[in-house]
Formats: sequence, structure tokens, C-alpha cells
Amino acid sequence: MSEKFLVDLKRTHYCCDLNASNNDQDVVLMGWVDTRRDHGGLVFIDLRDRTGILQLVLDPSQNETSVAKDLRGEFVIAVSGKVRPRPEGMKNTKLPTGEIEIDVKRCEILSKAETVPFQTNDKNVGENIRLKYRYLDLRSSQMQSNLMIRHKFYQIVRRVLDQEGFLEIETPILYKSTPEGARDYLVPSRVSQGHFYALPQSPQTLKQLLMISGMDKYFQIARCFRDEDLRADRQPEFTQVDIEMSFVEPEDVMQINEKLIRSVWKEVLNLEIPEIQVMNYFDAMNDYGTDRPDTRFDMKLSDVGEELKGAGFRLFDDVLEKGGAVKAMTISEQGEMSRSQIDKLTKLARQMGAKGLMWIKSNSAGELNSPLVKFLDDSVVRKAFEKAGAKNGDSVLIVADEWRISCTVLGHLRLQLAEDLKLIDESQFNFLWVVGFPLLDYDADNKRWVACHHPFTAPSDSSLEDLLSGDDKKMGELTAKAYDLVCNGYEIAGGSIRIHDQEVQSAMFKALGLSKEETRQKFGFFVDALKYGTPPHGGVAWGVDRVVMLLCGTNAIRDVIAFPKTSRAVCLMSEAPSVVERDQLLELGVRLSPTAENSLAKESEKKDE
Ligand code: AMO
Repeated sequence: MSEKFLVDLKRTHYCCDLNASNNDQDVVLMGWVDTRRDHGGLVFIDLRDRTGILQLVLDPSQNETSVAKDLRGEFVIAVSGKVRPRPEGMKNTKLPTGEIEIDVKRCEILSKAETVPFQTNDKNVGENIRLKYRYLDLRSSQMQSNLMIRHKFYQIVRRVLDQEGFLEIETPILYKSTPEGARDYLVPSRVSQGHFYALPQSPQTLKQLLMISGMDKYFQIARCFRDEDLRADRQPEFTQVDIEMSFVEPEDVMQINEKLIRSVWKEVLNLEIPEIQVMNYFDAMNDYGTDRPDTRFDMKLSDVGEELKGAGFRLFDDVLEKGGAVKAMTISEQGEMSRSQIDKLTKLARQMGAKGLMWIKSNSAGELNSPLVKFLDDSVVRKAFEKAGAKNGDSVLIVADEWRISCTVLGHLRLQLAEDLKLIDESQFNFLWVVGFPLLDYDADNKRWVACHHPFTAPSDSSLEDLLSGDDKKMGELTAKAYDLVCNGYEIAGGSIRIHDQEVQSAMFKALGLSKEETRQKFGFFVDALKYGTPPHGGVAWGVDRVVMLLCGTNAIRDVIAFPKTSRAVCLMSEAPSVVERDQLLELGVRLSPTAENSLAKESEKKDE
């Protein structure tokens, strides 16, 4: 093996830099052996680097290329040679380098490789194995391309925001709890025993403090940490493009974001994004059953309460009397849905919190079939069917419950059906601003109000007096100066105008049930800062991983993160989180609970077996 090669000769090109225009050129290349074929006394190697693949031809009978006979998959090699056209009939139009090959004059092995657990680019490898050997998985062209798109995204963001006068400022990771609705990751302090840092759920308070400091326009590519239930689009640590601006209204923040979205989509995908629609939270919920509607397909919900009220079906009347809603959704051309399809949807509806699912089916002749006909007049059932916008040959699904439950259950079914019936044009990107969110949400389990966005979000002007009044009855009606950017059903960014007045901030903490002492202990520094000249300000944070997911055309967040964690927040490669030395705990003043000790004992028993 020779590092000498690296001293003698420097790499001249990446594989895919080369094409027929480089014929006859002397080149030096370095990379991995992707595949090897022996043919007519010659060895053909597909050399792979991060740009792609290039064919090498080596003659093992020559001294300088004699190592060709030892080459195996994933060996790292360096070659020098001449670019030449492939013989007629041997060209591969599928490869960017398919017209050429390298006549190798010298080849050296820089590093040997043991047999790898899976072949690079093998699409049939289980995700756990991919994650365990992530460094090998990252050799695949898909993962390399995803990470390159992520890199490109960052460069565009930095350039555009710099041009717009934003300053990139870093904020600490060892910090204090920041309320974004998840549990904190805590880090014990060795120096101040019994005290803990919290990893930031977002740099929310810090970026607001930077506005108080007069930085005017801030951004950061910020790592955030949230200990929450994970989903396909959630990671315990994820990245935000975090933005804050002084002296702004929602429209100013939205405008900058649109500019950013346009630049990114144009430069990465060469797509023009038309003007972004704005939708009210209530309309989003009412029409799509979610605050992040996927508007790439229609299937809007409707309200059939009026049609079914007082017609003789107790369940509907009970729901309506309690102020609930009977919501319906038409599924076009699915009048022949089978029993098992309906059972599957009913099961899903129950899992989402509905008590049941009603349906009306129509055959192509327009005859209706529904369990409702046992209880209601045919004409009533038809009225509901028509109100839902259904035609002959369609089906209608109905959920009656509290308004929010009826909407969200049908919203889930809508997405499931769109997937099952392939209603979505995957090439489309539908952006949408959702505004007019409630300021507070009632947490029935803990019997208290929680902030819908976070406690620093300003109430809308019409809600300010009611917030200040502290009247508990009005809290559910308050709306926020908040906005979410949604694309294809993903919430890709969220933000708001902030409270910049200490009195309003105190009223907010009070509405959230925080005592004066708690407020002081948790946010004393922040509330104090508000006293010293706070400009009106607002901002937003983008979920980078979700945006990159969309740009890469994947729906798995792990595919756009170099070293992600599983849904149990574990890194399969390094096996983090892991057990630490007792001495380390002692030093930190931390002792494990009996439950933790028990589970460790069980784990080590298992390992010994
Ligand atoms: P929010 O909590 O809405 O707002 O987060 C902003 C965006 O971050 C993304 N996101 C996540 N991405 C991956 N995994 C997660 N666990 C995760 N959680 C959130 C989403 C979301 O839209 N400080 C405020 C922003 C502000 O008000 O300026 C905040 O963090 O795409």
C-alpha cells in the first residue's frame, strides 16, 4: 500500500467531472472500487466517488497496474491514466460518464476493505442495518445526493439572509429550559451539583434577547433538542433555520420567508413557486381536518349537521345539542367500497378518537346504501349525501363528535384515502400560510391552559384586552399573531409576532397558570430584559430536516440526516445513549433510581446469557 501516490500525484478530477470532451487527457482519480469484472485478461473497475461512477480498465500483467488482480469491492484506490472513448457497442447511455473509460497506467491500493455487510446502493437492506453501518449507508448515491441537497440548502439560506441584512449569531446549547411543549434533555453540572442545564428546545428566548440587544435581524442554523414521541417527520435533535426581526408585522416575516422559499426551490429544483395562499386556522380545520392541510388534492370536509338535526338519530342530536359537529367527506367514485375497506377506515377513525364512523354509499344508478336508512328518512339521508357534494357512484363518510374530533378524524381518513387511492400528484409542491391560530389550548388532563405556539407569542390586537382581563372564560377565544408555513401537509416553519410588553407577558404567564415565583424562577432574566427597551419583534423557525425531505422527495426524516436516531431516540451505530461509569455519575452528583438500576441489571443479565 502506498501513501507515496498521494505525494507524487494529486487528484485532478472527480469521476463525473469527466466526459468525452476530456478524451486523451491524463488524469489522476481516487475513490472506492464499486464493482470489478474480469474480461479478456483485463480488469474492469467501476470507480466510485461522491460524484458517481467511472469505468477504469487495467491490465494486471503490467507492473504498474499489477495490483488489479487484488482489488476487491470497497478498496480505496488511486489511479492515473488517460481518458479514452469506450469502444462502440460498449457505451452506457445511463451513466453520465458512459461514453468514456480510463486506460489506467498506474494503480495503487490506498486502503483495503473487509467484506462489507451490504453492497453500496443495495435498495433491499433493512433500515436497522443501514443505521448500524451508517458510514457505509452514506456511500449510496441516494444518501450522498440528499446530503448535497442539504448543503446546497444551507448555502442558499446563508446567502439570501446575508443579502437581506441578517446577522448569523450562535446561541448556547448548554442553557435553560425553553418552553416549546416537549420534555427537556437535561445535562447535570459537575461544578454546581444538583443543578442542570437544559438543551434548548429552540433558541426562542435567546433570539428575542438579541432583538432587545439591538441586533435587529438575526438568523442561525440552530440545533434543537426535544424529548418527545418521535414520528416519521420528527427527530429528538433536529435543525432549524431560526430567524428573528425587529420592528415587523406578520407580513414582513412572511415576505422574507417567501423570498427564501422561492430562492431555494428555484436553485435546488428549478421550480418557480407561485404566490403563497393564506388560510385561516379555522378554515383549515373545518375544510381539511388539520392545521397543516395537504392541498395537492381536494376532498374537503363539509358540515351535514343542519341536514341531520332532529331527523330521528339520537347520536347526531346528542352531539349537536352539546355544540359538536357532524362532519362529512365525499370519496369520489368509491360507491362500491367493500365492507373490509369500511372496516379498515372505521378502525382508523376509532384509533383517532371517534366513537364510530357512518357511511353512505351510492351505486352508479344513484341508489343509496347506508346504515342510516334504518333510522332516518331516505330523503334526509339523500340531503346529507348531496350537502357533502357527493354524486352518483360516490361514498360519504360521516363523523359526529366534538367539532375538533370530527374534523381531525376525517382529516386523517382523508390522508389515508389519498394514499390508498393514489390521489396525490407527487411532483407538486403546495405551499400555504396558516394564520389566525388560537393563542391558548385547554389541557383537559392537567386542567390548565397551554400556549398553542409558545408563551412569547403575541395575542392578535382584538384579543389583547381579553388576555389582560385574565377572564378565564375568554381564554379559549383568544387568537394569536402566529403563522405556520405548510407544504404538502408538512408544517415546515412556524413563527409569530412576540409580546414585547412586560405587562402583557405577565398576563400571558398568569393565563398559563404560572405563579409569580415560577415565572421568576423560569423566566426572570427574560422578563427583566423586557423592561429595558424592547422593540416590537417577531420571527419564525424552519424545520430544516422537513424542508430537505421535501426537496429530496422522501418522506423519511432519517434519509436527510447524516447520523439520525431511531424512533426510540437511539443511535444504532454508536449505541448512544449508553451506560456511563459510576465514577462519572458520582462526580456529577447523580444517583440512579432503583428502577433504572433494575433495568440495567436486567440488561446485563441478558448480555451474559
Ligand atoms: P416550532 O416548535 O413550531 O417553533 O418549530 C419550528 C419548526 O421546527 C420543525 N420541528 C421539528 N423538526 C423535526 N423534528 C422535530 N422534533 C421538530 N419539532 C419542530 C417544524 C416546525 O415548524 N421557537 C419557535 C419558532 C418561532 O416562534 O420563531 C419554534 O421552535 O418544521
